[in-house]
Amino acid sequence: MSVGKKFKIASIGAGNVGASVAQYCLELELGDVVLTDIVEGLPQGKALDMTQAGPIRGYSCQAVGTNDYKDLAGADLVIITAGLPRKPGMTRLDLLEKNGGIISGICENVKQYAPDAIVIVVTNPLDTMVYLAHKKLGFPPNRVIGMAGCLDSARMRAFVAMELGVSMKNVDTMVLGSHGDDMVPLPQYTVVSGIPITKLMPQDRIDAIVDRTRKGGGEIVQLLKTGSAYYAPAASAVRMAQSVLRDEKQLLPCAAYLTGQYGLDDIFMGVPCILGKDGVERIVELDITEAEKASLHKSAEEVRTGIKQLQELGLL
Ligand code: APR
Repeated sequence: MSVGKKFKIASIGAGNVGASVAQYCLELELGDVVLTDIVEGLPQGKALDMTQAGPIRGYSCQAVGTNDYKDLAGADLVIITAGLPRKPGMTRLDLLEKNGGIISGICENVKQYAPDAIVIVVTNPLDTMVYLAHKKLGFPPNRVIGMAGCLDSARMRAFVAMELGVSMKNVDTMVLGSHGDDMVPLPQYTVVSGIPITKLMPQDRIDAIVDRTRKGGGEIVQLLKTGSAYYAPAASAVRMAQSVLRDEKQLLPCAAYLTGQYGLDDIFMGVPCILGKDGVERIVELDITEAEKASLHKSAEEVRTGIKQLQELGLL
């Protein structure tokens, strides 16, 4: 990917997350956006609407909507948000089967029309969907990245800032593992302008923040009742996109393909990654406690169960 040109970004899925992704990309002038969906008129309508906000919001990048995957041709970056959010009565396995089918179909098209793209997967269950995408695309693993840790750590940063009454900009943290109840937030790497939170709040408040972070997605589903979060997920995916397209080398928690790091192999899991023009350019191995290591491996077991289920469903 060459830096300095006008990029083409494909947002696949024009629902809540996909449309927000497109809008944030335009606002940041990351590139022109192709918004893709299977519902006729939906991506076209949203893309036109967003483009018409440009003169007011002051961006000159444009969005186009399409139902035809051929329009992905030449995309530098593809963000996949297509798929069902989990609905009441739907089991985890139902979701895995439905979204697994959707991801497989999309990846065939991405492989055909945007073979040089870097792909960011947002669809849940994230860690299994990004693994499936990697296998279906056949791209080198540095070019396939899952969005989860960025969102989980953003939630934790917000909770810490809210608790302490400090600017969110001053809070930094790291969350490892899978995207779900088994994620591994790391209080020891959570700081406010360099000051560890262990020096700023009692342990019971830290524990409460860790717990709220783990259940962050569920809290919003319960409030919304008809869907799941989309502003923060989209903002997180776009932060990753920005680091890739502008070759910023941001160190962000992302679901990356592991080949022995943290004692894990042939799995996508949330780890600190340096994102640049080649996608995941480096995985950083942190010194973590035995308890955190155990949580990370428990988290990996959950992901492996999902992968096995994909195999049993014939999707892998
Ligand atoms: N190709 C393109 N778009 C598709 C396909 C497909 N094969 N299948 C479904 N879609 C589209 C739907 O038509 C819908 O517009 O994906 C969109 C999903 O949008 P929403 O239902 O609004 O869901 P959203 O909230 O955006 O979440 C999407 O992101 O965060 C995750 O858990 C969430 O897996 C879910 C995904």
